[in-house]
Amino acid sequence: MLTLLVFAFLGLAFAENGIDGWLRYASLPRDVAAGARIPGVIIALNDSVVSPIFTAGRELQKGIAGITGVQLKVSSTTTGNTSSITVGTLDSVASAAGQVANLPELTGDGFYLDTTGSGARIIGHTERGALYGAFEYLSMLAQGNFSEVSYASNPSAPIRWANQWDNLDGSIERGYAGPSIFFKNGAVVSDLTRVSQYARLLASVGINGLVVNNVNAALAANIPLLNSANIAGLGRIADAMRPWGVRLALSLNFDAPRNNGGLATSDPFDSAVIKFWDDKTAELYRSIPDLAGFLVKANSEDQPGPLTYNRTLADGANLFAKALKPHGDGLVMFRAFVYDHHLTEDNWKNDRANAAVDFFKHLDGQFDDNVVIQIKYGPIDFQVREPPSPLFANLLQSNVAIELQVTQEYLGQQNHLVYLPPLWKTILDYDLKVEGQSSVIGRDILTGHRFNRSTNGYASVINVGTNTTWLGHHLAMSNFYAYGRLAWDPLRDETQIVEEWAHLTFGSDRKVIDTITDMSLESWPAYENYTGNLGIQTLTDITGPHYGPNPASQDGNGWGQWTRADATTIGMDRTVWNGTGFSGQYPPEIAAKYEKIETTPDDLLLWFHHVPYTQRLKSGKTVIQHFYDAHYAGAETVQSFPERWASLKGLIDDERFNEVAFRLEYQTGHAIVWRDAINEFYRNMSSIPDDQGRVGNHTWRIEAEKMTLSGYQAVSVTPFETASGRKAITTSSNQTTGTATATLDFPSGVYNIGVNYYDVMGGRAKYEILLNGQTLGKWEGNLEDKLGNTFSSQLNGHSAARVYFKGVNVEKGAVLTIRGTPDGGEPAPLDYVSILPIGRVD
Ligand code: GCU
Repeated sequence: MLTLLVFAFLGLAFAENGIDGWLRYASLPRDVAAGARIPGVIIALNDSVVSPIFTAGRELQKGIAGITGVQLKVSSTTTGNTSSITVGTLDSVASAAGQVANLPELTGDGFYLDTTGSGARIIGHTERGALYGAFEYLSMLAQGNFSEVSYASNPSAPIRWANQWDNLDGSIERGYAGPSIFFKNGAVVSDLTRVSQYARLLASVGINGLVVNNVNAALAANIPLLNSANIAGLGRIADAMRPWGVRLALSLNFDAPRNNGGLATSDPFDSAVIKFWDDKTAELYRSIPDLAGFLVKANSEDQPGPLTYNRTLADGANLFAKALKPHGDGLVMFRAFVYDHHLTEDNWKNDRANAAVDFFKHLDGQFDDNVVIQIKYGPIDFQVREPPSPLFANLLQSNVAIELQVTQEYLGQQNHLVYLPPLWKTILDYDLKVEGQSSVIGRDILTGHRFNRSTNGYASVINVGTNTTWLGHHLAMSNFYAYGRLAWDPLRDETQIVEEWAHLTFGSDRKVIDTITDMSLESWPAYENYTGNLGIQTLTDITGPHYGPNPASQDGNGWGQWTRADATTIGMDRTVWNGTGFSGQYPPEIAAKYEKIETTPDDLLLWFHHVPYTQRLKSGKTVIQHFYDAHYAGAETVQSFPERWASLKGLIDDERFNEVAFRLEYQTGHAIVWRDAINEFYRNMSSIPDDQGRVGNHTWRIEAEKMTLSGYQAVSVTPFETASGRKAITTSSNQTTGTATATLDFPSGVYNIGVNYYDVMGGRAKYEILLNGQTLGKWEGNLEDKLGNTFSSQLNGHSAARVYFKGVNVEKGAVLTIRGTPDGGEPAPLDYVSILPIGRVD
């Protein structure tokens, strides 16, 4: 056993780009490292480079060197050194060192970790399990925890997959961190370094399968997936991931027999179609011997499926199940996200939320045993709050997996900090009380215990990209980390998870950990507050990029994310007695609760009921006043983030510090855009004023269209609520600089100045702000270069943004000027200027 005294160095302030995520193995502070007890050698009981045990040996070596500075040797056989870290499977450890006495029970990819005595033993139930145990041990060391432990850890469920929605052209559907690490120009990329790095991150949190391509596999760009060059390329991806125990799976295009096989039909009962899939599957297995299976999105959002051929969804799923069966344990993850997106809102009884149960319940028991129904957590689509999908209570004889989303579609697209586990926990901890018995989704249903299933689990859309941060926002990585942790153990506490992640990602400073933890825990409630409350959904632009506010887009189309808001009422009546009947899809006890307004919790009131804006909540407020207040409260919470983050300067490397600081500052501005848009929209619709007089009254605001303009003109903005006062200004030509001027009529003092502008695609306009002719600052309309999501070429809630100039001395009567120089398609748009006394949130 080596004792560490001299070689620990202070692990601060190296620039870091995020590529290692939480696996940085940063050197421990000297005082902490002094307590380290590190064995003298690593024995990894498999010397094949593709073995996860071999990987574990190398990872232990690398991690221990980083954390403690000690360079250990790795051997694949016992060395006689009594102080060793031994990593292997039950069998390999038994044959190398004899039977292990009193070993706790191991299941699935579980492991046993024992650090008592002079060495450490890491024993996997599978090779993958051994690797997980090694990561667990390293995680302890990286957190300066050298305690003696001896325990087994078993996964809650066998399926712990990630889904990438990558297209073959390299774009990623709902990906916000650059193009694909897997594909480019219709083929698999040649350099797969990033793929191995991704597999390492996945493995470190227990994820064992990865679907590498978009569920929308029938998109034209994705049709070549199954050609021979791509099958060979997929084989290379699988090779890159195999040492990490991550198995590859594919999204399939149901119409591939027609699109790739030259057949006239894709009917699952047609013998040529069956042969096509049998042959393709065999070809895939030749390239990927451990193929994990297929993911199928059928008859949904214009994707083809068995219903097209008058066959059932079960017939479609079983077609693939039978093709996989002869080759081993491959699974068909068949998505329950099937619904009609041409519903008419005129019919009060229509409801997209009913779709999953309507489509799947009667098929329960008809799926082959290697089919798993993959169910989104809520009945609609990754909204900021939804009740759990009732399908979990309706499939008692089928394998099921929950589908979560790490990529923040509808949830701020990684430009907003939104720590998601508290949202996921509202589902995982939910007791559906099926047949009157305890049926908690995470603990009882997904584990398989409740309905005696052995092939249940988890999938999450992650959508990492080539950006070195993986997800665009360094802080968004906590969602990735937490997903793996919760799939392993859904009972884990979300606070503990983020603390652990922050420690590993940013170091051991208590202030850093606490600040990140607190902000993360406040972030989802804040986001819900400033986007959509009381179960009304995210209120984003659902026909566009699902990013900025556009409540009107929810209604009047077939997508079914309706709010049914009119001048006096709002909400979906999903009761059995008078509405769509959705509440009746839950078991009786739950159904009864949601059937009545009095027993429906406030946070889902508008999900289940259509009520007047003046309806009183349990809190005593009216619905409309709750909207106003929540939007103010949510936006206010995030205003504090930049300052709290700033207090960490010097405690985190500058590169990550600055990148996070930039996004948090951006979020403060966009939260205000959200707040004002939603409040204006509903004030306009309901004609009910805010009883605190805030909505529509902005004492400290100067509308751009009311300034003295030269080379600028006023324009109307659509949707109206995404411009203060409904109007903005744009330069009159795309060549010449425009000027907007105002004399400030505020008492002399120190102010924070916020300028709201629109950062549209298609140009990088330049702006300058001056006070009495002196430059206060400059900025550029270049968010499309700095943020990872697709912006808009229009002035609206996606492009609306704010910059700040803080602590400015303003004399009463001073002249404020903004100069905007257009560039390409960006006419230097401005909405308003806020001159805010310090501490005031607009
Ligand atoms: C959402 C998302 C789509 C995606 C779909 C799915 O509707 O916006 O991009 O294809 O979900 O999960 O299949």
